[in-house]
Amino acid sequence: MNVAPEIIFLSGSLSEDSKTRLIADWCAGLCVERGALTQVFRGADLEFPFYRPGTKARDRPEIKNYLRAMEKADAVVLVSPAYHGGVSGLLKNAIDYINELGEASRPLLDGRAIGCVAVARGEQGAASTLAMLRTIGHALRGWPTPLGVALSNEQAHTDSGGVPRVERTRAQLKVMLGQVISHSRISARRRANRTPAGTRQ
Ligand SMILES: Cc1cc2nc3c(=O)[nH]c(=O)nc-3n(C[C@H](O)[C@H](O)[C@H](O)COP(=O)(O)O)c2cc1C
Repeated sequence: MNVAPEIIFLSGSLSEDSKTRLIADWCAGLCVERGALTQVFRGADLEFPFYRPGTKARDRPEIKNYLRAMEKADAVVLVSPAYHGGVSGLLKNAIDYINELGEASRPLLDGRAIGCVAVARGEQGAASTLAMLRTIGHALRGWPTPLGVALSNEQAHTDSGGVPRVERTRAQLKVMLGQVISHSRISARRRANRTPAGTRQ
């Protein structure tokens, strides 16, 4: 059965006119054009209390909704600003909540493609943040795509319509998203063909 892959975007900045958010929105739009279903969690959607293992906070509707989306996701794209050389605390805290999916049928982000984008002022911050995102993706048992995207300075600028101004940025994001989408189709097919627990074939 051919089902549309579901791709979740997390953007880890609360700043007004956030470049991270604009890049995440543009990427999600591109995935929709290519037949995927998308959901974008912006910074304000990720303002969860600090993660505490075994927490009751997971019963909050916004966290339940987030965890449900992550559990069902066929791929996840993490878009983070560089904060002191690494992933923003906001995004890392939201990612830590994925620990609550440790006992899920597909634990954490097991087998899912993970696209990574770092948005920074300088090249060094962009590179170290991207490396951290990819390491986190592996720790979640996901598959960071071969290409991750590190954007610094004007590489992350967008026009008034939210389109990245720099051609190379658009090209890199398209390649990375192409990799995310093609891998996500494997997960979507498996999800569609999964036999409900307890049934015999
Ligand atoms: C608390 C803080 C720490 C930052 N640390 C770095 C850094 O280490 N390296 C860097 O290149 N940029 C750093 N920046 C700049 C941001 O990464 C950059 O402005 C980015 O575009 C912010 O994303 P946003 O527009 O989505 O908020 C920092 C910004 C803030 C607010």
